[in-house]
Amino acid sequence: MMGVFISIEGIDGSGKSSIKEGILSFLQDYNPVGVREPGGTFISEKIRELLLDFKNSSITPRTEAFLYASSRSQLVDEVIRPALEAGKIVVADRYIDSTLAYQGYGRGLDLEFLEMLNQLCTGGLKPDLTILLDIDPEIGIKRRRGKKEDRLEGEGLPFQEKVRAGYLELARREPERIKVIDAGRSLEEVLNDALAAVSLFLQGSGLNEDRAR
Ligand SMILES: Nc1ncnc2c1ncn2[C@@H]1O[C@H](COP(=O)(O)OP(=O)(O)OP(=O)(O)O)[C@@H](O)[C@H]1O
Ligand SMILES: [Mg+2]
Repeated sequence: MMGVFISIEGIDGSGKSSIKEGILSFLQDYNPVGVREPGGTFISEKIRELLLDFKNSSITPRTEAFLYASSRSQLVDEVIRPALEAGKIVVADRYIDSTLAYQGYGRGLDLEFLEMLNQLCTGGLKPDLTILLDIDPEIGIKRRRGKKEDRLEGEGLPFQEKVRAGYLELARREPERIKVIDAGRSLEEVLNDALAAVSLFLQGSGLNEDRAR
């Protein structure tokens, strides 16, 4: 595959959407493709509605994992893989590491099962670079104050702490791919570090400007 696949991860309110927008405008000459999870296709947005609705509190952790996997499967087939095959840069707000952090470390599902599920629903497509926005959950919650909560965001501090620790463990396991950035600082500082990581990666990847433009 010729393009470059970047994912952005982190707990609720860590700044993923803001940083994604910053990276997309930094890379605008390359016509990058931005996606979000769950969602990003017609089918995946329908699944997103199911997942985030408070009325669906009877969804069990395993069902939840399968719904995320279905949403991701469609997003990979319909958007991410075709874009990469066309040589584009794809920037995803959440991807496979969210499954391991939330359904695994957060909800307690077996990590090997989830790794298999990730493998199946993506056909093995992994990000080339993952930016992990690490933040104290209390700060994340404060930042999101005023925004309406969805089912998953109503989980509270102990859950967010488990997810945060899970993400950091994933970064320890794959330090080459997952770059941890202290997201508890100003947006400008966080974005600077994120853009530096992206630039470094693109230089190293030898992404030739003619090819991506
Ligand atoms: N470094 C920062 N300092 C202060 N405020 C920030 C920072 N980054 C983002 N914000 C603000 O915090 C809120 C949450 O940021 P954002 O929506 O980007 O996070 P997110 O990780 O995408 O959250 P969600 O989990 O809700 O999707 C927004 O109102 C955003 O403007
Ligand atoms: Mg967001």
